[in-house]
Amino acid sequence: MKAMLLNGNEVAKEVKNSVKKDVEILRKENIYPGLAVVLVGNDPASKVYVRNKGKNCEKLGIFSQTFELPEDISQKELNTLIDKLNYDPKFHGILVQMPLPKHLNVSEIIHRIRPEKDVDGFHPENMGRLVLDEEGFRPCTPAGIMEIFRYYQISLEGKHAVVVGRSNIVGKPMLNMLYQKKPEGNATATICHTRTKDIAAITRMADILIVAAGTPEFITGDMIKPGAVVVDVGMNRVDDPRAEKGYRLTGDVKFDEAVDVASAITPVPGGVGPMTIAMLMVNTVKAAKY
Ligand code: GUN
Repeated sequence: MKAMLLNGNEVAKEVKNSVKKDVEILRKENIYPGLAVVLVGNDPASKVYVRNKGKNCEKLGIFSQTFELPEDISQKELNTLIDKLNYDPKFHGILVQMPLPKHLNVSEIIHRIRPEKDVDGFHPENMGRLVLDEEGFRPCTPAGIMEIFRYYQISLEGKHAVVVGRSNIVGKPMLNMLYQKKPEGNATATICHTRTKDIAAITRMADILIVAAGTPEFITGDMIKPGAVVVDVGMNRVDDPRAEKGYRLTGDVKFDEAVDVASAITPVPGGVGPMTIAMLMVNTVKAAKY
C-alpha cells in the first residue's frame, strides 16, 4: 500500500481563504494589513521564497513591500532599516529572510524586531510565549505542520512524535508544539540531531516523524516505522543534468522508499512549503488585528 499524500497546497488554500475573509473585514474598518519583507544578498532560493511571499500577499489583499539590500550591507545599516519599519504604521509585520550573510549577527536582528511585528515568531519573547503556551506569534513552518495534522485529522494524542533537526526556525518550535498540553498536542516528543547516536533506532520508534535535517534524502525507508506519518520539511536543490533547470528539488526523506512504508507523507514540493507561506499570511493578519 502506498502512503496517502498530505497535500499542503490543499490545506494552504483553505487557510488562505479564511485569511482573505479576515482581510475583507479589516478593510471595512479601514485597516490594511501590511508586511515588510527584507531580503539581503542574492541567494537564489531566498529570492524565490520572497517573490512568492509578495505574490501571496497580493492575492489576499495584504499590502507588502520587499526591501532588497546588497550582500555587503553593514549591521548598522540593517538595524536602521529595522528601526524604521518598527515604527512605520503601514507595516504590521516584518520578516527578515533567512539565511543572512555570515558577517551579520542574526540574533541581534531578531532581537531588534518589535515582538508585536515579529510575524516569523523568532523573537525570544514569542519563542518564550510558545514554550509557556501563551498567546503570541508561532514560527510559520511548524505552525503549518500542525495545520496539516488538523486538516487530515491526524491526532497526536499519546503518539510518539520524533523531530529530526534542532534549528531555531523548525526543530525547536516544532518540538514544543507537539507536546503542548492541549487537544492538538499531547504527543510524547523526542528531538534528534547530528550528535544523536543511532538515529535510525529512534526514528524507527516514531509514529509521527518530522524531518528538518537539512540533508537531502537523509531518511531512508528502513528508518521509518511501518504505518508512520512522515512530514518532510526539506527543500534541497540537487544537481540533475536531465532536469530542465539543471537541478531538481528533493526533501530530506527518500520519498520513493518512504512512500512504501509510511501511512501518510508530505511530498516535496507541495507539502510543507505552501503551509509556511499560508501561516505567514495568518500571522500578518493577526498582527494587524492587534
Ligand atoms: N528561511 C527559511 N524559512 C524561513 C522562515 O520561515 N522565515 C524566514 N524569515 N526565513 C526563512
